[in-house]
Amino acid sequence: MTRHLITSAIPYINGIKHLGNLVGSQLPADLFARFQRARRNEVLFLCATDEHGTPAELAAAKAGKPVAEYCAEMWTLQAEIAQGFRLSFDHFGRSSSDENRTLTQHFAGRLADEGLIEETVETQVYSIADGRFLPDRYIEGTCPNCGFESARGDQCDNCTKQLDPADLINPYSTISGSTELEPRETKHLHLKQSKVKDQLDNWISSKKDWPILTTSIAKKWLHDGDGLQDRGITRDLDWGVPVKRGADDWPGMEGKVFYVWFDAPIEYIACSQEWVAAGKGDDWERWWRTDKGADDVRYTQFMGKDNVPFHTLSFPATIMGSNEPWKLVDYIKSFNYLNYDGGQFSTSRGRGVFMDQALEILPSDYWRWWLLSHAPENSDSEFTWENFQASVNKDLADVLGNFVSRVTKFTRSKFSEEIPDGGKNGPEEESLIQEITTRVRAYEGYMEAMEIRKSANELRAIWVAGNEYLQTVAPWSTFKTAPEQAAAQIRLALNLIRVYAVLSAPFIPDASAELMQAMQTDNDAWPDDVAAAMTALPAGHAFAVPEVTFRKITDDEREDWQERFSGTRA
Ligand code: 2FM
Ligand code: ZN
Repeated sequence: MTRHLITSAIPYINGIKHLGNLVGSQLPADLFARFQRARRNEVLFLCATDEHGTPAELAAAKAGKPVAEYCAEMWTLQAEIAQGFRLSFDHFGRSSSDENRTLTQHFAGRLADEGLIEETVETQVYSIADGRFLPDRYIEGTCPNCGFESARGDQCDNCTKQLDPADLINPYSTISGSTELEPRETKHLHLKQSKVKDQLDNWISSKKDWPILTTSIAKKWLHDGDGLQDRGITRDLDWGVPVKRGADDWPGMEGKVFYVWFDAPIEYIACSQEWVAAGKGDDWERWWRTDKGADDVRYTQFMGKDNVPFHTLSFPATIMGSNEPWKLVDYIKSFNYLNYDGGQFSTSRGRGVFMDQALEILPSDYWRWWLLSHAPENSDSEFTWENFQASVNKDLADVLGNFVSRVTKFTRSKFSEEIPDGGKNGPEEESLIQEITTRVRAYEGYMEAMEIRKSANELRAIWVAGNEYLQTVAPWSTFKTAPEQAAAQIRLALNLIRVYAVLSAPFIPDASAELMQAMQTDNDAWPDDVAAAMTALPAGHAFAVPEVTFRKITDDEREDWQERFSGTRA
């Protein structure tokens, strides 16, 4: 049994995420977690909200609420929506937790003790109109790297370069729009990433099996230009983790907080402490401390490509620099972007389908299937309503749903609501078992490797194989001349429904649960031996004909939704 620690990038607290965010981290992480649990491995699957920094402050101000209150409300909302999508986190934490505050201050103290923190007096942008320094997203301007005109203070959305607000050309305040900005002196802490550069480089180079998308981004920031830069890890803000050196005050840093990207990844660890504090687990150290057994853990992170520099460089620099036995990530699965109907999803512009809206129009399985089977793995991919309708109607309704409904309804009409006895497997049955065996082994391999589209293709092919078998042997015809043989065919097909439920559960958990219920079994054993799995439900076992498992999306609905989501969200 392997122990899998799985984390999804923690979504910003400011607002409900769109489907592009979902497919870039939480959903594939959930797929992997469900698969590993189904294989009877031990899993700790963690996610949280990323609550600090300017995005939270700005959103709270816009909502006219104190930031702590805003965050608490949004956390509840995000947790509910995550539940709606059946994201099976063992714990959904908050980066504003006491645990994260203490741990973040601890890491800062360790890094200082190791000589990796530099105190600098730097010149930052001060907005005279706003009466404050303008860090991060309070300031926008032209990217010095690519010339993009609305680059944010912390990162350029166009070329993904990490920036310091002071780097921007033609900067303006995003609070007031004022360009009346002036440089002023303020004291800050810098993490000397350059000191651990070789260690990082060797570590990344040793990860031969990582996706190219992950390693190429890391290598780019390690080697391009002047190489890895030291990073400012503090900000002049009220909301965040107060700057302290462990439990001690940090002279000269009063009233400042750590940069949100310093404390956010530390929340992966703190979240496991919150999980223990919530009474859901009793030992977080065996997941995170290599001196406490975490050497046996396989740690996988899921994220969009814009998050890669922070997870391949900044966070590992914090871990390595602490010189304490913390677990480092073993595998980083990163994603390109999902686009929306000829453009980009955009939170700020409210463009695309957001998670709450998606659940208002269709159950989560429909979205899970489409999103995962079109995951932007090797390149950006695009959501269109036509494609969504076609995939759902074909894969889910015509193939899987139709198989289940034909088999169960036919059995009920010609036999009873029990698995029929009699007959033996013939060559068609043997060849179906053969094909499914080969495909299940391939499916396992792809799932294990987190090749999500390939996994979906294989699962679809497994569903198709059942339909083709049914079409070929046609039990409704066989029944007229050889009812015993029809019984054997149907017994196999009914057992296949249970196998489908088990194999499909990581993708479409609700439909799988319905199928298990229809087959009146809780035997969710993985089909290690497909032939044996095809006899798991014996003759005489009762079942029920399920309600429509998947319905089709009509042309009217498609047009209606296309229209409804074409504008921007209020
Ligand atoms: O891009 C984002 O949505 C960030 N909130 C992800 C943070 S992941 C981590 F480091 F915590
Ligand atoms: Zn740029």
